[in-house]
Amino acid sequence: MPLETIKYEKSEGLEILDQTLLPATTQYIQVRNVEDGWNVINKMQVRGAPAIAIVGCLSLVEEIIRQRTIWSFKDKKDFYYFIENKLNYLVSARPTAVNMKKAADKLIKMANDFCDDDNCTLFNMIKGITLEIRGMLSKDVQDNKAIGNFGATEILNLNDVPKDGFVRILTHCNTGSLATAAYGTALGVIRSLHEKEKLEHVYCTETRPFNQGARLTAYELVHDNIPATLICDNMVAAVLKTKRITAIVVGADRVAMNGDTANKIGTYQIAILAKYHNVPFYVAVPRTSMDVNMPNGDNIIIEERSEKEITHMNNVRIAAEGIKCWNPAFDVTPANLITGYITEVGVLQPHEFSQHM
Ligand code: MRU
Repeated sequence: MPLETIKYEKSEGLEILDQTLLPATTQYIQVRNVEDGWNVINKMQVRGAPAIAIVGCLSLVEEIIRQRTIWSFKDKKDFYYFIENKLNYLVSARPTAVNMKKAADKLIKMANDFCDDDNCTLFNMIKGITLEIRGMLSKDVQDNKAIGNFGATEILNLNDVPKDGFVRILTHCNTGSLATAAYGTALGVIRSLHEKEKLEHVYCTETRPFNQGARLTAYELVHDNIPATLICDNMVAAVLKTKRITAIVVGADRVAMNGDTANKIGTYQIAILAKYHNVPFYVAVPRTSMDVNMPNGDNIIIEERSEKEITHMNNVRIAAEGIKCWNPAFDVTPANLITGYITEVGVLQPHEFSQHM
């Protein structure tokens, strides 16, 4: 059975797989409205830049169709203010990934255009917005499959690919079916290499402190029978020195126009190690994670999370009482450490971004 992080049926509603309980427990949570959507995103019961945007927007659809009727809105402008308010609230659930913000801006602009169109009724406006949001699920899967294919081709064409054609990949955090509508971005590249029977082995990092690698990526790799080894975050240099890694592929939460990339904390140090060991370092990223309003990475807001994620494991304190902690959830990797950006339209360099946005 494929992994399904977002279950959505028009008739049955929206459920998300609670990722805080994985891998031990598989339990879905019903998302009935925007407040539920905000909470599951903020608590990281659903996480990963594309999944955050899809669940956030679908929670708005759920609120519109289950908790309101067309009579709840006086007119199109009233509906416009309603969704503008709800979408901006959803953006505030987590600040670093740009996908939710971009989706919100797009939907608010659409709603504004519907208001300006005298031939569009309130009914058609509501229908247009809900259809656009429902389409996000299939669009994301389509993008991820394209990313997977472009990434696999790029890596198989690298100069350092062993003669037998089998490659060895290192990845960080979780960018798979659990972080997207399905298939994944960096994990999509790995899945594609595996499907092409060209993948020898994957190394995935534990990804402290939230352990997305140990809990989620390892779970996906085992689920798909992909040959893989879990390592602690401080073993990357040793792996690059000894395990003949062909390429590193990671995801992104926000890519600035000069290529600087915000991704899970620890990505930056892996990119530095990749440079030192001469290993190509790729960012697999749908264009929904690229931010035209961010010229470089200097002003990307980095979410800081609770100290408890560092001091405790499974609610048991492991750190000395009284110690202070700093827990940024992301860091920014400068563009000059990144070999290429594997997108759904091909492998790009930053100077090519603007023509594809
Ligand atoms: O804090 P998280 O688990 O939401 O962070 C996830 C990542 O950093 C991913 O690499 C990124 O969102 C891309 S997911 C396709």
